[in-house]
Amino acid sequence: APANAPASGAGAKTYSDMVLCYPQLGAESDWRTANTASIKETAATLGIKQLVFSDAQQKQENQISAVRACIQQGVDVIALPPVVEDGWDAVLTEAKNAGIPVIIVDRSVSADKSLYSTHIGSNMTLEGERAAAEFNKMMPDGGVILELSGTTGSGAAVGRAKGLRNKLNSNITILDSQTGNFTRAEAVPVMQALLKKYTPGKDFQGLFIHNDDMGIGAIEVLKAAGVKPGDLKIVSVDGTRGGFQAMVDGWFQADVECNPLLGPQVFELALKLMNGQPVDAEVLTDETVYYPENAAELLPTRKY
Ligand code: AHR
Repeated sequence: APANAPASGAGAKTYSDMVLCYPQLGAESDWRTANTASIKETAATLGIKQLVFSDAQQKQENQISAVRACIQQGVDVIALPPVVEDGWDAVLTEAKNAGIPVIIVDRSVSADKSLYSTHIGSNMTLEGERAAAEFNKMMPDGGVILELSGTTGSGAAVGRAKGLRNKLNSNITILDSQTGNFTRAEAVPVMQALLKKYTPGKDFQGLFIHNDDMGIGAIEVLKAAGVKPGDLKIVSVDGTRGGFQAMVDGWFQADVECNPLLGPQVFELALKLMNGQPVDAEVLTDETVYYPENAAELLPTRKY
């Protein structure tokens, strides 16, 4: 058989041989916590040899150092959820030269596709387009919205912003867009500053928020300013329990799903790569949009 033929049968590597590196980007949101749990639980369930996990606290330089340490250690596979899109070429080249396959997880990278084996995650642009469709439905006569966006330069924020603009009706204007870095804590002062500049209801009627954690921070601020649930059309992303609660409470009119439970698929791809088997270059998560109508019923079934 040719040297690169897929291994199978006797001699094929199994999960008990696997050392997988997961340089997590941070712990900024409930989504991220669920993603970390999914990776750790799946590693334990499958009984892999070692999971090399780290938390970069939303700093790319920390993530790059963690990847370099994993290359040094000689792990079998690196599964990388990149905090931002740009700036990965050098370290991905180092992994490639070391013969370690890289799975890009969750957010995308701008690096050349030859530098990694596959990307698994959500279609972030589609999520933004789905949000736009909600505003188009809720504001048939047009209106003005604000955008609270995720981490600047992250695939999630870039894609959602682009998708929104792709599909938003021309009679709906985006008055302002500010980043809350995907965290509840950072969304609070940003929302406060926006309310100093613009009056809800008068200057804007809607809010697109890039994740539920920031949405919950924004709700705190809106509440304190006397805004009532339903006064504004609010669309968020993720579909966490917090997001479902915000729909139950009447604050969110829609929550665009982004699924963090990627563990099983990541390890399946990793095992294939360890065995030299082919994998799809892009594995997209199947997702939907959630609404207040059945939020109360679904809330107890949510896993994150
Ligand atoms: O990349 C996925 C995004 O990152 C999620 O929407 C957000 O909650 C997380 O911080």
